[in-house]
Amino acid sequence: MTVPIPNQRIFSGVQPTGNLHLGNYLGAIRNWARLQDEYECIYCMVDLHAITMPQDPVELRASTREVAASLLAAGIDPADSIVFNQSQVPAHAELAWIFNCVARLGWLNRMTQFKEKAGKDRDNASAGLYTYPALMAADIMVYKATHVPVGEDQKQHLELTRDVAQSFNSQFGVECFPLVEPLIYGEATRVMSLRDGNSKMSKSEKSEMSRINLTDDADTIARKIRKARTDAEPLPGDPEGLEGRPEALNLLGIYASLDDAPVADTCQHFAGAQFSAFKEALTELAVAKLAPVTGEMNRLRADPGHVDEVLRQGAERAAALAEPIIREVQDIVGFLRP
Ligand code: AMP
Ligand code: TRP
Repeated sequence: MTVPIPNQRIFSGVQPTGNLHLGNYLGAIRNWARLQDEYECIYCMVDLHAITMPQDPVELRASTREVAASLLAAGIDPADSIVFNQSQVPAHAELAWIFNCVARLGWLNRMTQFKEKAGKDRDNASAGLYTYPALMAADIMVYKATHVPVGEDQKQHLELTRDVAQSFNSQFGVECFPLVEPLIYGEATRVMSLRDGNSKMSKSEKSEMSRINLTDDADTIARKIRKARTDAEPLPGDPEGLEGRPEALNLLGIYASLDDAPVADTCQHFAGAQFSAFKEALTELAVAKLAPVTGEMNRLRADPGHVDEVLRQGAERAAALAEPIIREVQDIVGFLRP
């Protein structure tokens, strides 16, 4: 049986490791919530991806609930979108194996995220970390999803997803998989660390001061913004004046994104201002925008049974979509289904 390629189906994933931060929120999750009004959306806690690096089982389970709660708190409505964790839909792992046999070593060797995560001791990295992008391609293609909203850092993985889909289609002479389109937009597709404008805001960075977590209260947000690194110049009147000023660019980008306005407007508004005044305005805006999310997270935290039920139902709905597609793929590859 051939499952038709949907017109527009959104899929995206997030690793359930640690807390979500402002980069996750502005670069991805806020967009996920906005897309669900118009599109069919599937959002996944990628726990199979989370075990590609050393991890603790108790923490993984807790983070899976915590990250799912953040998605709901950010406005993702499980009555509308599918929200689930990857390990509970076995078709992801099944298709990932098939894609491991389609992806070429040369393609995987080019992946910058592997190089960053493996570090210097590459021989000691897990094989799973190396083939991570094939699993990511499977996550998307097991639903024949057409659009994937992510931050800038995932662009290369989505290019590989297209290569795998195209290669599968041409190897077997079929039109089974779509060529996925990345959705990377907004003024904060790459939010940088508050301590260093040249490195990405990340869950794995040691210093808590480098990121604003979705769980931070108003005082913590204020302290982190006050301590954020800046330069000595006043703020420029237009975005060209941000060139060579990574910290200023980052903070103004965060403000613009929280404000849902272009960076040019933010520059115009703060032209000539000192960082001290700007930081006060940024704190006020960040607290105002994040407080509802944090409040809702606290409420959901007190009700883990609800989150578990959302994930259980989400996995059921996801599996129902994936099953006919994995069967189609098995037929194409030539697996006997007696
Ligand atoms: P991760 O936490 O790595 O699983 O990422 C989840 C989503 O957040 C992905 O779509 C990433 O591209 C996005 N993301 C992660 N860090 C950042 C950042 N610093 N700026 C913008 N987007 C980000
Ligand atoms: N690799 C993504 C990240 O680290 C998470 C992810 C896994 C994903 N599978 C995906 C994102 C499928 C989009 C689509 O952020």
